[in-house]
Amino acid sequence: MQVLSVASEVYPLIKTGGLADVAGALPLALKGYGVSVKTLMPGYPAVMRMVENATVRMSFESLLGAKADVLEVEHQGLDLLILDSPTFFDRPGGPYADATGKDHFDNWRRFAALSKAGAIIAQGGMAQGESGWQPDIVHVHDWQAAMVPAYMRYAAEPEIPTLVTIHNIAFQGQFGADIFPYLELPPHAFGIGGVEYFGGVGYLKAGLQTGWAISTVSPSYAEEILTPEFGMGLEGLLAYRAADLHGIVNGIDTGIWNPATDTAVKANYTAASLKTRAANKRAVAERFGLIEDDGPLFCVISRLTWQKGMDLLAEAVGDLVELGARLAVLGSGDRALENAFHAAAAHHPGRIAVLPTYDEPLSHLMQAGSDAIIIPSRFEPCGLTQLYGLRYGCIPVVARTGGLNDTVIDASHAALAARTATGVSFGPVTAGNLRRALRRAVRLYRDPKVWTAMQKQGMKSDVSWEKSAGLYAELYKNLLARKGS
Ligand code: ADP
Ligand code: GLC
Repeated sequence: MQVLSVASEVYPLIKTGGLADVAGALPLALKGYGVSVKTLMPGYPAVMRMVENATVRMSFESLLGAKADVLEVEHQGLDLLILDSPTFFDRPGGPYADATGKDHFDNWRRFAALSKAGAIIAQGGMAQGESGWQPDIVHVHDWQAAMVPAYMRYAAEPEIPTLVTIHNIAFQGQFGADIFPYLELPPHAFGIGGVEYFGGVGYLKAGLQTGWAISTVSPSYAEEILTPEFGMGLEGLLAYRAADLHGIVNGIDTGIWNPATDTAVKANYTAASLKTRAANKRAVAERFGLIEDDGPLFCVISRLTWQKGMDLLAEAVGDLVELGARLAVLGSGDRALENAFHAAAAHHPGRIAVLPTYDEPLSHLMQAGSDAIIIPSRFEPCGLTQLYGLRYGCIPVVARTGGLNDTVIDASHAALAARTATGVSFGPVTAGNLRRALRRAVRLYRDPKVWTAMQKQGMKSDVSWEKSAGLYAELYKNLLARKGS
């Protein structure tokens, strides 16, 4: 089976969050199920620098007004189709925003172009060329690619099955109605059954309306988004499409994330040599300028945002210090939250420290050296850092929501007795409940036998892609069968 995947970020070429990890790892895992994936992504400068000897597969004189080529290249086991359009993608800053954090002014056009290119390839745009390739299925990720099925719906060619995966419903790609004439869609596409959303244009909405099937990245989140609290305005449409809505939990690339072989950590270890983690713990303390003692070292590796509950943690950091713990924070985000953590660090030097940067190798070292990772998210479609934590013996302390709920087993009395506990979870998500969870985590830490048993149990959890890739393969097969029927 041939699949076209369309995503706005793909590890290891470009990453701002978990979407890149998923878009980079799932195609590799699908190979084991006889599914080959080509991934279409934008040619940002960082991407263009990494690709060599690419072949031009298609050229557009005008793709929503700009020249563009589709290049094909293999990169670390991934078959990539790169949309090379300097007008849209060759500029400083990140994939979505400029260096000051302001969204690129033409994101609506950049990602409509990505989606339109995806739709054209899906409908046979490359079939005439040298490669003669056409996919059986299209799998698109988040709002940046969600217009693919809409473009397919309004094209003359027959549709092939499409799957739209929601990684985060908080980001919907909503724009004013004034962009519609430039999208090169027929006038009737601007309707409730198409791209129209609250009087404007909604990219994610359009995908959820026109995709053959919809999935999100955990079973719990698939249920949560049917409610007004989590659906962010799309709960009605999702309820209408409930028969086609699936929840498949993310896995992680266990080759890249392996404490026994990870080159970014100070000392490699396995579940049988957990004491070796001490060298990594010292290295983390040193990198963050924290004192060294026998208390627990907590970490955060996250965007500092309201979604991630970082304001709640900022309220609770004083308690951590009182409990004899230390905290290392890696991440940036909302200015006010960054400032709150900087203030806490200044107030508790040597006990709390913040590095407001993005540092992939350091994130590995922190998982390998911290005792626990705190993830107090208000909502979390899946979450990957708790999975890395499980794999690295870094106990997750998590909010009981979304994918966190599906992947971490709370150290309840029953779970401890049955030796199934892998972390600490709390809910509802309030600062008070987070405080209690942190206190509970420290108490567990002070009992080394219990703590080690939890670490080992976590390291035994299956966090690989194997099972979930199988579920995607099955979903693709069911969609293909629907096409034939
Ligand atoms: P989200 O995609 O919502 O930000 P996830 O938990 O799914 O949350 O994925 C976040 C990914 O980004 C993980 O791979 C995590 O390790 C990584 N990450 C987040 N912040 C940083 C940072 N400051 N430095 C390095 N990696 C980070
Ligand atoms: C989003 C979500 C996160 C999820 C990731 C990958 O960024 O916020 O929970 O793990 O996508 O699916």
